[in-house]
Amino acid sequence: MQVNTSGPLRGEITVPGDKSISHRAVMLGALAKGTTHITGFLMGEDCLSTIDCFRKMGVEIGITEDEVIVHGVGLHGLSAPQDALYTGNSGTTTRLLCGILAGQSFPVTMSGDPSIQKRPMGRVIKPLREMGARIDGRDDNFCPLTIHPSELCGIEYTLPVASAQLKSAILLAGLYAEGQTTVIEPAPSRDHTERMFRALGVEVETHDGVITLDPPEELHALDIAVPADISSAAFFLVAGAIVPGSELTIKNVGVNPTRTGILDVLRDMGAEITEKNFRDDAEPVCDLIVKYSALHGTTIGGEIIPRLIDELPVIAVAAAFAQGETIIRDAQELKVKESNRIAAMVTELKKAGVDVEETEDGMIIRGGKKPHGATFETYKDHRIAMSLAVCALACEGASRILDPEVVAISYPTFFETLQKLGG
Ligand code: S3P
Repeated sequence: MQVNTSGPLRGEITVPGDKSISHRAVMLGALAKGTTHITGFLMGEDCLSTIDCFRKMGVEIGITEDEVIVHGVGLHGLSAPQDALYTGNSGTTTRLLCGILAGQSFPVTMSGDPSIQKRPMGRVIKPLREMGARIDGRDDNFCPLTIHPSELCGIEYTLPVASAQLKSAILLAGLYAEGQTTVIEPAPSRDHTERMFRALGVEVETHDGVITLDPPEELHALDIAVPADISSAAFFLVAGAIVPGSELTIKNVGVNPTRTGILDVLRDMGAEITEKNFRDDAEPVCDLIVKYSALHGTTIGGEIIPRLIDELPVIAVAAAFAQGETIIRDAQELKVKESNRIAAMVTELKKAGVDVEETEDGMIIRGGKKPHGATFETYKDHRIAMSLAVCALACEGASRILDPEVVAISYPTFFETLQKLGG
């Protein structure tokens, strides 16, 4: 796909539903008693993988134009699938399912695409085994995984990485455990599982990074409105900030404080972002308005990293258009995402003439010289593809984005929206 240097981006858009919340809505809806109507659901390939897995375990899930309807089977109502479960490209589906499957009375084998087969699962296997789960994986760390039935008991577990997928897997297994489950986080990661649990009547408490869950008798179904995904809005926040003359409004974006690191960083770099129409249900939501601004470099590391982990590729793009040096550190988790996102961004930004250096746990970008168009590879990674498309809008001269269709994982209509804005 060719992307040309863009004129100003202007207008009002709504980006698709939050991926993390959409996955959890289907999972908890399936395990609840009663029917869950989900509005704002993300119809991206990852979330469709979650739907597919639960359908294979006997959950009836209807999809209409404006909602997903999950007919919950109750905590103990899933049935054994005929075949292995296929989780596609989705780390969230794979890891969260591990926690749920550990508590079932039937064995299940699960795997996904070549990228999922390279992503570490040992981090989930270890605590689940401590809870009593019986899990076999390739080299004890990779898919395919086979999870056998067993009795679980609650544990206290300190996470070695600030990962919401890992935390959620343990808490989901905790639904089926004898006694209380406690997870201790090294830094706050997204808390959508805990919030949704509370809404469905599960006793979960969080104090100073310590989360405790008491196993419930049942979950009680509740309709769920999924806010727009700040991780998808991020591409337009950066595009609006770096394409001269732009002014964009992004409606109904989820601004859960565990996800808003991108707002803090872009503001710190000099971006003008305002919030309007704030409201707070189970998840806080508002409209975001971004205006083109002159950006400058910054340092990003420590506790903020889990709050913007998925936005770092597009933040690297913002840094390429900012004056001065940007240092990204403590971000080694980026190496085990859908692709090695540090290597991918460093390699591709270099093609555009950006002065960028890979480090052990991040990268250093020295901005100031206007990047030029290039042919960008996308590593079968949706966020790399969208980040580089945003970069291309502000480059001098045209660019090519290879395999652009990979955006369908989280944002099937990304390029249409960009065009609608004048990109
Ligand atoms: C997610 C957690 C994060 C994030 C991923 C979605 C979730 O992964 O990168 O896109 O929904 O829990 P980690 O938990 O591995 O950091």
